[in-house]
Amino acid sequence: MESHATPDFDNHAPIGVFDSGVGGLSVLRHIRQRLPHESLIYVADTAWMPYGDKATATIRERTLRLAESLLDAHCKMLVLACNTATAAAVKEVRAQWPGLTVVGMEPGLKPAIHGSPRRKVGILATSGTLRSDKFRLLLERYGAGAEVISQPCPGLVEQVEQGALDDQRTAALLRDYLTPLLAQQIDTLVLGCTHYPFLIPLIRRVTGEQLTIIDTGHAVARQVERLLDERGLRHPLATSGQSRFYTTGDPRVQHPLFQCLWGEEARLDYWSTAPPPARPAP
Ligand code: DGL
Repeated sequence: MESHATPDFDNHAPIGVFDSGVGGLSVLRHIRQRLPHESLIYVADTAWMPYGDKATATIRERTLRLAESLLDAHCKMLVLACNTATAAAVKEVRAQWPGLTVVGMEPGLKPAIHGSPRRKVGILATSGTLRSDKFRLLLERYGAGAEVISQPCPGLVEQVEQGALDDQRTAALLRDYLTPLLAQQIDTLVLGCTHYPFLIPLIRRVTGEQLTIIDTGHAVARQVERLLDERGLRHPLATSGQSRFYTTGDPRVQHPLFQCLWGEEARLDYWSTAPPPARPAP
């Protein structure tokens, strides 16, 4: 694979965060809370959502395209706030921009198994994440001596993207996906997709309060902070950083959902991932 020259990264520059849609906002809120002086650019690839059911090559191409567009916007660091994109393409992003700081996501299997009294863990994720080599390796690494029950959840991301966080269809899908896991007496549930934390109240209605739910958003924010410090990338001024929001879909359609999930005024603009026009021959 072609590897691009590594630009010098400016510590005043924003951190670029993206997901297939609004799911990554569940990670962004932890980053915002932990690092209030950083400027953040969030891109939802709404026009290509959902990633979870798409071919790996397509997810990879979208991930590389989004990474490139965020680098064109001079981001100093990239956060793949998407388990599916990370599983499909984090290796390729790192290979293409070797000097770039990249933070990916993976289902929190390690903390889940570590904290599970019965060593019985359920995991909800997209089909893309669960069929990936990266997930297979994660299971091999941490799954020994535990029972891990994986549950793909088609349709759930679309429900979140429609803002249907508390409707009958979402509740029915969750019941379908969680009932077999509960029947096998899991005591810990891993949310392996960044859209799912927005469904925790509804998940709790199905599972009750006893189950431990693992969401890795705060761990990712901690990792972002650690890498900023380690690489001298932390914003030098103690002023408040800005958060800017973009979608590859229609900002007017998407705005109410962003507003609702982000919980405060969020201006939303269109983000183009079109490749730059070819230069005319000299
Ligand atoms: N939010 C993403 C994840 O964490 C993927 C959702 C999708 O299928 O687009 O996997």
